[in-house]
Amino acid sequence: MNISVIGTGYVGLVAGACFADMGHNVVCQDIDKKKIETLNSGKIPIYEPGLDKLIKKNEEAKRLEFTKDMGKAVTHGKVIFIAVGTPPRDDGGADLSYVENVARSISAIAREQKIVVEKSTVPVLTGERVEQVLHCSNGDAKAGKCIKHLVVSNPEFLREGSAVEDFLKPDRIIVGTDRQEAREVMKEIYAPLKAEIVFTDIKSSEIIKHASNSFLAAKISFINAIANICEATGANVDDVARGMGLDSRIGPSFLRAGLGYGGFCFPKDVDAFIWIAERNGYDFAMLKEVQKINQGQRERFVKKVEDLLWVMKDKTIGVLGLAFKPNTDDMRFAPSVDIIQALQREGAKIKAYDPVAMERAKGILENVEYCSDMYEVAKDADALLFLTEWDEFKKIDLEKVKGLMKQAIICDGRNIFKPEQMAKLGFNYTGIGRV
Ligand SMILES: NC(=O)c1ccc[n+]([C@@H]2O[C@H](COP(=O)([O-])OP(=O)(O)OC[C@H]3O[C@@H](n4cnc5c(N)ncnc54)[C@H](O)[C@@H]3O)[C@@H](O)[C@H]2O)c1
Repeated sequence: MNISVIGTGYVGLVAGACFADMGHNVVCQDIDKKKIETLNSGKIPIYEPGLDKLIKKNEEAKRLEFTKDMGKAVTHGKVIFIAVGTPPRDDGGADLSYVENVARSISAIAREQKIVVEKSTVPVLTGERVEQVLHCSNGDAKAGKCIKHLVVSNPEFLREGSAVEDFLKPDRIIVGTDRQEAREVMKEIYAPLKAEIVFTDIKSSEIIKHASNSFLAAKISFINAIANICEATGANVDDVARGMGLDSRIGPSFLRAGLGYGGFCFPKDVDAFIWIAERNGYDFAMLKEVQKINQGQRERFVKKVEDLLWVMKDKTIGVLGLAFKPNTDDMRFAPSVDIIQALQREGAKIKAYDPVAMERAKGILENVEYCSDMYEVAKDADALLFLTEWDEFKKIDLEKVKGLMKQAIICDGRNIFKPEQMAKLGFNYTGIGRV
């Protein structure tokens, strides 16, 4: 199948490489000239395990190419996936201008019917708008020779850090369209994955994505709320989560207490779901509370650091982990950003290390001393904060760390260590939801 992917970011690049690996002929397009040049020079612009090898293999097999030429991409694809960003607007709604621009370009360029697939996460009713744009801005519309492109919603559920694996082994594939011919084509595209395909109408498919992410965000906020009760009463949230998670109706995933969710998906998708619900007359108060708890986790953590250090001015705070979660370099809406900026406002000096996210962090966080390893961060620090649970950090030599620090204070935002173990080593230690 000839496939084009418009927008070659975290989702578009993974989707493009995986479609090629499934045997399709793929053209990935992006307006970001630098990104395309990087890809064409054999490098990849993001950190995602396994992606570099997959791209190389499929480029060599001549099934995958990268271009900034929209005309080429639109002409190539029988099916065109839109995978551009849908960032949050100030009012909480999703900024759909990138999606609209792509739809407009497809309409202006295409000279035959295309299947246009929403891969980006979009609010319910976007499909109708995309259809209108594809139809109305069509060059031949005035001449009465409109091409009626088919619109499909096919939301993506990959997780950064395990994106390739998630894409190739999905729990399910959602395809929203009422058109049988589009269903058949989508079936053919995904056939190599042998995964379950759930067919729905476009609106239900759009809601499935927002509902899924909001549910997971709610699960995270739920366990964080429980962590706060545990802290207040002397219970242990890790034990509570284990006891709850063994119930097959609840399940253990997304029940880890910590600093709350971040990244490019959950915060903006919860926001956008609340916004679109409101627009349609429903006050999604439950999700507003989910957001409040999430933001509260960052603030509570900062307060814990302040309680332990007392005066913050001129204290040196070491930060381990900047990315919003392990195995990615994505810094978008990472808890580390809010936490570091709050501590800087109090006058603290920040040293930091992250295995892969430091380059991206440099564009967001100012006045941070970036270090080359964990121990350089610990050296002369008044407190050490763990903000991302990278595997590397789990193996840190704590005796050595203690010897390097000015004060043996550790604030563990991800419950990497056990309080008893840290007390034994002589650390003044605090985690989340455990005393
Ligand atoms: N990142 C994830 O884990 C994830 C998972 C599932 C779904 N999503 C959704 O997928 C969408 C993309 O997310 P992402 O993380 O890949 O974003 P991203 O910012 O990494 O990538 C978007 C790309 O689109 C490009 N772009 C913007 N306008 C364009 C245009 N007119 N023509 C061509 N390219 C254009 C940008 O240059 C950028 O490279 C979002 O809606 C997001 O919510 C993301």
